[in-house]
Amino acid sequence: MLNLEGKTVVVTAAAAGIGRETAIAAAEQGARVIATDIDTAGLASIASDRIVTRELDVIDRQAIASLFSELGKVDGLVNVAGIVHHGTIEECTMDEWQSAFQLNVDSMFHTIRGTLPDMLANGGGSIVNIASAASSVKGFHQRFVYGTTKAAVIGLTKSVAIDYVDKQIRCNAICPGTVDTPSLRERVRVLGEDLGGYHVAMQRFISRQPMGRLGKAREVAALAVFLLSDEAAFITGQTHIIDGGILA
Ligand SMILES: NC(=O)c1ccc[n+]([C@@H]2O[C@H](COP(=O)([O-])OP(=O)(O)OC[C@H]3O[C@@H](n4cnc5c(N)ncnc54)[C@H](O)[C@@H]3O)[C@@H](O)[C@H]2O)c1
Repeated sequence: MLNLEGKTVVVTAAAAGIGRETAIAAAEQGARVIATDIDTAGLASIASDRIVTRELDVIDRQAIASLFSELGKVDGLVNVAGIVHHGTIEECTMDEWQSAFQLNVDSMFHTIRGTLPDMLANGGGSIVNIASAASSVKGFHQRFVYGTTKAAVIGLTKSVAIDYVDKQIRCNAICPGTVDTPSLRERVRVLGEDLGGYHVAMQRFISRQPMGRLGKAREVAALAVFLLSDEAAFITGQTHIIDGGILA
């Protein structure tokens, strides 16, 4: 049984998908959760006595600094926010390149910088960064800038892990395969316009899954909760692949 009793955990992009399920799962295991997102209505739907919600745009570094300066003790940080751009290197515009890095990588630089002083002062913590199987782990068609940024997340994760390994601060990455979330459904809808229907496009995603199904956000959340917990105290600097067997 995992126990997050007495821990305060910050989650980004917590209004939907993997972030939402992570916030809920962490609270169920006893954590006090600071759930953040730009979608305040989505956040409101998970607010509870254990889940405090705060509007936070992760591309706003001042807002990140201000949030962490107010929070006090933070034991866990789950960096979930990320954006998927479609296309090859030839199709990638400079705007897409910059916005992908801003949201997928710079945001983690700022949130980790925001939380580290507190974790150091409090004798440790656990940072979990959501990367992707599309990264340095594996190339996926039409995921050029996305895969590039998620590879950077893995490098960032390993660097933080090794620099703070003797300070009881752990830093791990989770690399999900295809997970059924609102943003995935939107990607399916867009692909469906080319392929002749939502169902056809969904089958395209499912067909690359050896298990014959997409992942569930709560399955990724369960791994994040484990990595936040003291049961994972000997694990740092790793890429935890949860992909339904794509890389088996
Ligand atoms: N769904 C998948 O198949 C999959 C696979 C691998 C990795 N991932 C990664 O998991 C993470 C979550 O993806 P998801 O599919 O659960 O997303 P989702 O679309 O279900 O949820 C995204 C959330 O991010 C929030 N958000 C968007 N921009 C934001 C910003 N600037 N600041 C704060 N919040 C913002 C949205 O409001 C929304 O609540 C991403 O980093 C994604 O790259 C997802």
